[in-house]
Amino acid sequence: MRLFDVYPLFNITPAKALGSWLWDDQGKKYLDLYGGHAVISIGHSHPHYVKSLTDQLNKIGFYSNSVQNPIQEKFAEKLGQFSGYPDYQLFLCNSGAEANENALKLASFITGKKKVIAFKKAFHGRTSGAVAATDNPKIVAPFNAGHEVVFVPLNDEAAFTAALDSSTAAVIIEGIQGVGGIQLPSDSFLQFLERKCQENGSLLILDEIQCGYGRTGKFFAHQHAGIKPHIITTAKGMGNGFPVGGVLIHPDIKPWSGMLGTTFGGNYLASVAGLAVLEVMENEKLMENAATIGHFWISELKKISTITEVRGRGLIIGFDLPEEKKTVRTDLLFKHAIFTGEAKPNTIRLLPSLAMTKSEADLFLTALNEELK
Ligand SMILES: Cc1ncc(COP(=O)(O)O)c(C=O)c1O
Repeated sequence: MRLFDVYPLFNITPAKALGSWLWDDQGKKYLDLYGGHAVISIGHSHPHYVKSLTDQLNKIGFYSNSVQNPIQEKFAEKLGQFSGYPDYQLFLCNSGAEANENALKLASFITGKKKVIAFKKAFHGRTSGAVAATDNPKIVAPFNAGHEVVFVPLNDEAAFTAALDSSTAAVIIEGIQGVGGIQLPSDSFLQFLERKCQENGSLLILDEIQCGYGRTGKFFAHQHAGIKPHIITTAKGMGNGFPVGGVLIHPDIKPWSGMLGTTFGGNYLASVAGLAVLEVMENEKLMENAATIGHFWISELKKISTITEVRGRGLIIGFDLPEEKKTVRTDLLFKHAIFTGEAKPNTIRLLPSLAMTKSEADLFLTALNEELK
């Protein structure tokens, strides 16, 4: 059977990985500054993570959500305490799109409305409602296009006010836009959204799937703005590669039992993976590290005159290159063995593990300076 064509493939076959490093099947070593789309949060194959998953698999790998699962409880407890949201409820699922789909559905159930406000350049996933709230018509099928979604420019208070009305169930925004090229909502814009949603009886959903989980130096990117959304969605770094997604729900929202459901969400392995990630983040102070290395990288990138703009916070960074430098990403990969990400038209995205060291950060700057000189 031929595989479905998901992404264009680099001709590289990773065979093992550790920390910020990958080795291909020929033994060639690569520095990973992309973590397979921002997934690797604590570093590849962290020994505590590997041991936790292996030990669990040797006991029980799966049973459904109709029995007691103390590991899931422990995971939720730890996530609540570590993220600063101990009073929120946690619904566990398996991916980012699924988290957003459930968040939108929950907001619609709770408000009894269906209009959603999303933002230009937003990416929220590929399932029905999530893709309808994604600003990319190419990936929205006629079947998905039936949702009532209005897109307004990021940081535009007047456009937002014009779009918000009594039929608005939810406003969905990324803490920092990832796929859109690392675009930051201002703190004052997030505070404005929080206020407006409160006044209007609409629910504010913060999509923290790419930018959250410690990446910006706080647990969630929106926490830099001091707001408290009604719903927060998370995935990617949650399981460090094991598929885990989550919806955090404000205590004032009272879902009825069974409003959301899942077979695999929060299973033993997912919960153990999620717990191990949080333990490593805490023990190794990875949020602090993300803030320090990110600050260093951003200030160094700003010194490079060929770079037209640098955006980001902590270890979610995007920088723009002029058209004549559009091969830099592939040159970094094939000449310097460094994985990075991209965004259209000519942005390089850095989304490494939060355990990235200063010397690994230096290796990247040396290679980049060589390509840009
Ligand atoms: C901000 C954001 N939301 C949602 C998603 C969808 O996540 P998944 O691919 O796990 O469905 C992504 C994936 O890139 C994302 O970056």
